Amino acid sequence: MGGLVLLANSAAQAEQTSIFEPASPPAESIRTLAILVFVITLFIFFVVEGVLFYSIWRFRRSKQNAGDPTTEPAQVYGSKPIEVAWTAAPALIVFVLVLASTRTLWEVKPNAPAPSAGDNALYVTAIGHQWWWEFHYTSYNGEPLDFITANELHVPAGEDGTPRPVYLTLRSADVIHSFWVPRLAGKLDLIPGVDNLLWFQTNEPGLYLGQCAEYCGTQHAGMLLRVVVESPADFETWLANERQPAVDDPAVAQGKAAFLSETCINCHRVRGTPADGTYAPDLTHLMSRETLASGLVPNDRENLRKWIRNPHDIKEGCLMPAFGLSPEKLDLIVDYLATLK
Ligand code: CUA
Repeated sequence: MGGLVLLANSAAQAEQTSIFEPASPPAESIRTLAILVFVITLFIFFVVEGVLFYSIWRFRRSKQNAGDPTTEPAQVYGSKPIEVAWTAAPALIVFVLVLASTRTLWEVKPNAPAPSAGDNALYVTAIGHQWWWEFHYTSYNGEPLDFITANELHVPAGEDGTPRPVYLTLRSADVIHSFWVPRLAGKLDLIPGVDNLLWFQTNEPGLYLGQCAEYCGTQHAGMLLRVVVESPADFETWLANERQPAVDDPAVAQGKAAFLSETCINCHRVRGTPADGTYAPDLTHLMSRETLASGLVPNDRENLRKWIRNPHDIKEGCLMPAFGLSPEKLDLIVDYLATLK
């Protein structure tokens, strides 16, 4: 039963990460190119295998071909027509592939204008860390933004014929990572010291899954990506909430004090409190995220407690240490974090 559920899950997951289900122009261009290359190589495969099997069959040992075993069959030395054919045909095929690839490169290449009022465009700087994603929102529809979230990228969908392009500046805080959400765009590396630009635009709200696509250490496989595409109205609601500093619920004052007294604040930020670390995910609106540990587990109380008690139980090798907190303190901190909506 569990296996069945797992199978069903991975089938649904495969659908959400299939390059054959594009939902954005760059992904569509890549699918078209992939199909073209596949058809051409399939054709070459059948021609080569066809000639091979024909030759094996035609020149097999048989009564008809047996003849005198000490003599060779007639040998052919040099043939202009054959040489021209096997030079021209591959050259032509390569030429077609080069043209098609160049067109696709051109189509997926972002051409991001500077943000301006009424451009309906979202600008985000995505920074790869071992092993999570930082998203720094910098501009939407020409209005400057300045907040940071992690692992779940919220973007607006195009609506009523108005496209809402998303421009991502890709950077790395440590090693090379690669941003890959197959239904939205092609893979693009996040390289230390280099800014790479990626774009996509979709009119289909929904959840799009992705994955770091460049081996970056122990938890490379646990560096999952979630892109939440929302209607412009829903996106703006989300945006308005994210721009606020963290809520300050007096009911969890004790929990807040416990959180601030620990070394959590050296790495994590909670906007509006003294916690101002930038090494680890921003927790200002932690509970607005559906998952923990970069998409590995659902973000619920139980997993949150498990994570803080010992992150390595969920994500072995991750860079957050276990602090050996007492169960009481653990509960207080979880109480506080659970209010950060
Ligand atoms: Cu980051 Cu692989």
